[in-house]
Amino acid sequence: MGEGKTLSTERVFPSPKKNMDCLHTKFLNVDFKNPVIAASGTYGYGREYENLYPLEKLGGISVKGTTLLPKPGNPVPRIAETPSGMLNSIGLENPGIDAFINNELPDLQKKDIAVILNISGNTPEQYGEIAAKASLQPGVDIIEVNISCPNVKQGGAAFGTSKEAAFAVTKAVREATNLPVMVKLSPNVTKITEIAKACEDAGADGLSLINTLLGMRIDVKTRRPILANVMGGLSGPAIFPVAVRMVYETARAVKIPICGMGGISTAEDALEIMMAGAQTFQIGAAIFADAYAPLKIAEDLSEWCRINGVKNISEIIGVCK
Ligand SMILES: Cc1cc2nc3c(=O)[nH]c(=O)nc-3n(C[C@H](O)[C@H](O)[C@H](O)COP(=O)(O)O)c2cc1C
Repeated sequence: MGEGKTLSTERVFPSPKKNMDCLHTKFLNVDFKNPVIAASGTYGYGREYENLYPLEKLGGISVKGTTLLPKPGNPVPRIAETPSGMLNSIGLENPGIDAFINNELPDLQKKDIAVILNISGNTPEQYGEIAAKASLQPGVDIIEVNISCPNVKQGGAAFGTSKEAAFAVTKAVREATNLPVMVKLSPNVTKITEIAKACEDAGADGLSLINTLLGMRIDVKTRRPILANVMGGLSGPAIFPVAVRMVYETARAVKIPICGMGGISTAEDALEIMMAGAQTFQIGAAIFADAYAPLKIAEDLSEWCRINGVKNISEIIGVCK
């Protein structure tokens, strides 16, 4: 990192209190003490991690994808290893929006951390209904709209693969809530900028990208797919260059702010995605390899700012031309 030196990872966490003011960020009008956010589906509601460190060390948490009704998810096996990453087909297992509001939100709300509600639906109306429910009480800071879900009325293609469908979902959520709306884009498209612009035109306040890349593995002994669902989403370091490219392209195509993600596992990766144009970023698969990864990245970023004389991390957003 700075001056060609990588910082040591042999440290004890949580480490002694350091001044990390250089990481303070305002994103979608919400205060983030640092730009590090736990990615949806990889951190639950943070409960398991609270035993390791205070969640307040993170800037934000994007909770598990939430649907109108509880979802049991896909049959197992639903995880497969891949070189430098993993495939998952969890199938949005979650307790539904009412259980989230009653059982998870009250605890999250008490913490000094930005709460991002990641929502999924089968129709634009469902997305709108979830957003409306979430807006009825305090606690949620941002709604993140996962448009990588099948559009049941249009043959099952993901909303995020058509600009018309992406527009319709964004509009439905926009009309249902006054909370900031951030639409999470799918990378499984030919032109991500077209979809990004459709979401901006429909009233999105921000965008997050990328979701997982569609993939598949086969067990050569059984000659059958490894995942019970046949296909799944690829995440982890393997997808990082795709994420950087898509953030870079999108940041040049829209005026609304971007939360970047996809394969980030070090502070250098975080710097790269921010230099490509992201204001904040999410860490997903890296948390499975190291539960402390988000904390290490935040600390290394603040150290990088100190070494490089950067007063606030926002100075580097989009500097790569
Ligand atoms: C096990 C698992 C579950 C996920 N669940 C969701 C989800 O519920 N909603 C969503 O929008 N993205 C979900 N994602 C995608 C991640 O939030 C993230 O966009 C993706 O994994 C890329 O980032 P990463 O490479 O840092 O993991 C999931 C990813 C994984 C690995």
